[in-house]
Amino acid sequence: MSKSLLIKNGTIVTAIDKYEADIYVSGEKVHTIGKDLTIKADQTIDAKNCYIFPGGIDAHTHMELPFMGTYASDTFETGTLAGLHGGTTTIIDFAIQSKGESFNTTIDKWHKKADGNAVSDYAFHLGVTNLNEETKKEIKDIVEKKGITSFKIFMAYKGALMVDDRQIVSLMNEIKNYGGIVTSHCENGDLIDELVLEARTNKNLSPKYHVLTRPDIAEAEATGRIIDIAYQGGHPVYIVHLTCETALNRVREATKRNQTVCVETCVQYLLLDESVYFLPGFEGSKWVMSPPLRKEKDREALWKGINQGLVHTVATDHCPFCMDQKKMGENDFSKIPNGAPGIEHRMELMYTYGVLENKISLNKFVEVTATNPAKIFGMFPKKGTIAIGSDADLVIFDPKINHTISVKTHHHNCDYSAYEGWKLTGKCKTIILRGSVAIDNGKSLINKGFGQYIKRSAYNKELVEEGKALAKV
Ligand code: URP
Ligand code: ZN
Ligand code: ZN
Repeated sequence: MSKSLLIKNGTIVTAIDKYEADIYVSGEKVHTIGKDLTIKADQTIDAKNCYIFPGGIDAHTHMELPFMGTYASDTFETGTLAGLHGGTTTIIDFAIQSKGESFNTTIDKWHKKADGNAVSDYAFHLGVTNLNEETKKEIKDIVEKKGITSFKIFMAYKGALMVDDRQIVSLMNEIKNYGGIVTSHCENGDLIDELVLEARTNKNLSPKYHVLTRPDIAEAEATGRIIDIAYQGGHPVYIVHLTCETALNRVREATKRNQTVCVETCVQYLLLDESVYFLPGFEGSKWVMSPPLRKEKDREALWKGINQGLVHTVATDHCPFCMDQKKMGENDFSKIPNGAPGIEHRMELMYTYGVLENKISLNKFVEVTATNPAKIFGMFPKKGTIAIGSDADLVIFDPKINHTISVKTHHHNCDYSAYEGWKLTGKCKTIILRGSVAIDNGKSLINKGFGQYIKRSAYNKELVEEGKALAKV
């Protein structure tokens, strides 16, 4: 017998609506939405004075990523649990190909890490570091049978992850046959490597040289380049973690020829700036990530870009390393593992510093944290909205609860917080994942392995670019 749940008196918020209604959940799905529902349920929750948001989707995470000689410190179990506490019910993690590996081996490796361990739902992008005639042949089944419909490339990290332009063209051409989309880390790797070499030669080795050797122009150049490559072939493209005005202007420029470019930024680029790299000693290493944090003008451009419809999603690029890992670069900034924790507080930070500070509306908040990632990455309307037939992934959000971010209370497996001491107004109080109460008042009620792998549909141009067709639930 499937269980049922009745959520009474909440204010439902989607990307386009805000209204008071009850939600009846049967099994894993939203069954009925209506006023004063009297249906009998196994469990009833009173959501009076609370918002009900669709479960958040973080489209950019790295759990247990092998990177720069170490591993990201959150496992699928710890990282997805942290995300769940903060209202993220689905992640899309990057399964990144190691040198010489087949794509299917990479995907198997990621399933081994995630299956039976993830607490929230999860999907994978495939990180392509070596496309050749053999790996190319794997793509059809990966899209059509394994439900991995997005492919990540890196335009930086030469010698480790970077691919050249020819491979990008070839990948785009191949995945077009099956409806995939390329997602890209845009920084000019060669330019950066020269700047890093120069800094090291001059014995400029402290964390601040991370930002000084990764200028915004390196990001803008690569952003413009991939946009042009996509345009030439008539391909969709998704820019991951866009950070700055100069890169955003390349996107803006593309709209003049009616090209749609999907753009992600991350919460840290909206809220933090480069001043942290200039803190004394090794403190700045906590925020060493690529691209780096930027300037105030860039933060402003990104907030505006969200409202202008140029920035579609807000993710985290959650890639935590503990301080003993960061210390691998104590004497050389270029050896500091790149990445920072963030998945747990994305939604609450966006609410406090976005919605409450009038940077974005409540509907926009839902759009960028849940609806757009679901649409772009082939999960809508199963995920990303509150509708009859959708998965009952729901966040009951109490806007009156104040709390403070701290390493002492967060759930990340990381010994510092990138937002230590930041005040939050509003809390993801009760989190429901596929009809089960997963978190209630800070208490976890589900076990590891509860999370399900989500097979995704092909990129739907009409849905994303023209707002036309609705995929089936
Ligand atoms: O610094 C970062 N962003 N680390 C994770 C890898 C990537 O570039 O996304
Ligand atoms: Zn990246
Ligand atoms: Zn990343």
